[in-house]
Amino acid sequence: EKRTLTDKYGRQLNYLRLSVTDRCNFRCYYCMPEEGMDFAARKDLLSYDELLFLSEIFCDLGVSKIRITGGEPFVRHGIMPFLGELSTLPGLEEITVTTNGTLSFEYIALLKKAGIRKINVSIDSLDRARFFQITRRDNFDSVYSCILRLLSDGFEVKLNCVISAAKNVEDIIPFVELTRDYPLRVRFLEEMPFNGSSEFDVLNWNHRSIYNYIAGNYPEIIRLENEPHSTSENYRIPAYKGSFGIIASFSRTFCGTCNRIRLSATGELRTCLYGPPATNLRDLLRDGATRSEIEDALLLAVSQRAKDGFEAEDRNVKTLKESMSVLGG
Ligand code: GTP
Ligand code: 5AD
Ligand code: SF4
Repeated sequence: EKRTLTDKYGRQLNYLRLSVTDRCNFRCYYCMPEEGMDFAARKDLLSYDELLFLSEIFCDLGVSKIRITGGEPFVRHGIMPFLGELSTLPGLEEITVTTNGTLSFEYIALLKKAGIRKINVSIDSLDRARFFQITRRDNFDSVYSCILRLLSDGFEVKLNCVISAAKNVEDIIPFVELTRDYPLRVRFLEEMPFNGSSEFDVLNWNHRSIYNYIAGNYPEIIRLENEPHSTSENYRIPAYKGSFGIIASFSRTFCGTCNRIRLSATGELRTCLYGPPATNLRDLLRDGATRSEIEDALLLAVSQRAKDGFEAEDRNVKTLKESMSVLGG
């Protein structure tokens, strides 16, 4: 019988989120401080060969989807040849990428060539000044033109937009309006306490505030049916080309149907975004572990997976100093 990464509550983990770097050319306030962080040294990152070897093992154990995240994946040298090789792994049905949208048109063409069809772009404002305030970088134009290019090249595009009362509530309606003309999906996210520092204000705009605000402006709003494993509640406005969703990433749990497993750029394996790493696969590999020893470590970690990692009472305190660019989102 084929071995799979199935936990003791019957959830099969077939979706791997692979962070390829903790570095980023942006400094979004909700992710890391202006001065950056104590980034991992190159030698401590999983090499591309190690990533391919581990990915092959994951796929043997039933992983069929890999999302490439960071940090910003495209700041890592050699990422395109790596994605090209990854795309040939047997059993892997889909590779998707989450990026801040500062990738060149040349890379977009290469992504297409590698058969990658779905890209998520993080963009929290359609206003140049607010974009700068949020990301601490003046890159609005290049991100926006990248989004338009992805759309005209036929990619399925989702935009991730983290909403904060103090920063970008005014952007919610413009983002909904973007779905009038473009067949993309905007997701409004609650801010999570992963900003690389120990400061996190109480969540000030939650999924309900976002929904009420939109529904107040669009009484004709239509609720869409949930896809399996969906993290968002999804909606559209009649006659608009795209749709939008609300991800209650902080105030609600998706643990019941969660099919994700995560590997950080330095090899830390997590079976829950909110939990500590279960093991470090890089250390195992570099200590000379065989393929079957690595498989055993994966199966063990998955068998110890908590039913509901999110509900831990001290989740705030425990994760406060983490950055999303280390966790991989
Ligand atoms: P796809 O579903 O493959 O499109 O991936 P995605 O990263 O675009 O969306 P996903 O729904 O996976 O994640 C978007 C955001 O949801 C993340 O950046 C997090 O803020 C949040 N999120 C993702 N996974 C989890 C999780 O396991 N628990 C919680 N609480 N939030 C999560
Ligand atoms: N809270 C919510 N979302 C976050 N992201 C990064 N940091 C946070 C945070 N603290 C989002 C990014 C990206 C996705 C992977 O996670 O905007 O789109
Ligand atoms: Fe970079 Fe994404 Fe973090 Fe912003 S949220 S600093 S784009 S890794």
